[in-house]
Amino acid sequence: MVSHTKAPVITIDGPTASGKGTVSSLVAKQLGWAVLDSGALYRLTALVALRTGVDSTDQTALAALARQLDVHFENGVCWLEGEDVSDRLRHEQVGLLASQIAAYEPVRTALLARQRDFLQAPGLIADGRDMGTVVFPDAPLKIFLVADAHSRAQRRYKQLIEKGISANLSDLIADLQARDLRDSTRAIAPLKPADNAITLDSSCLSIEETVAQVLAHWAATKN
Ligand code: C5P
Repeated sequence: MVSHTKAPVITIDGPTASGKGTVSSLVAKQLGWAVLDSGALYRLTALVALRTGVDSTDQTALAALARQLDVHFENGVCWLEGEDVSDRLRHEQVGLLASQIAAYEPVRTALLARQRDFLQAPGLIADGRDMGTVVFPDAPLKIFLVADAHSRAQRRYKQLIEKGISANLSDLIADLQARDLRDSTRAIAPLKPADNAITLDSSCLSIEETVAQVLAHWAATKN
């Protein structure tokens, strides 16, 4: 099963800190559509594993956690069993473990149906690594958003500092390069553009310019 409604999906995939999250929520706002932050589901699984002490190599136990996540998203806030964990999810330790467990096939399978359940009228912006290749292969518009490592690390640095989380720029560059490598070389659902994706390089674009380009591509698909 690929999708159970005829609502359209715009997939926005790309490497860590390429601006996908911000661009996705602004495009969704403009169109009045819902957003799927698929990375949050991997991060939530990692957070619960850290909290419950589940072995980070036990694929079966991690998949069970992923299937049982009691989570809902509301206006950009992520609630786990009634607790707002939006900030906790952004911690580097959680992101690193998320990237590690995202390479496990049972975890990806456990999250697949959950991700497709986000599809609803009038449409969905799906943000992740494999939205266009695996989760929504029939999406009428697929964007692959990239930016050079230095610009991405600077954006991540700014976000963390604004949230009061301490950070070091060179550690962030090393961390996101390691994560890119792991995401793009893993055997299952690696980070790569779908064959029919449009690649947008946002290194020299503002958020507003990037959003405008996505909306222009969406308008063009309807002509
Ligand atoms: O996008 P974000 O940084 O929140 O994702 C956290 C991790 O989850 C990524 O490093 C990646 O390994 C994994 N992920 C994935 N597939 C997705 C979304 C995220 O493998 N669709």
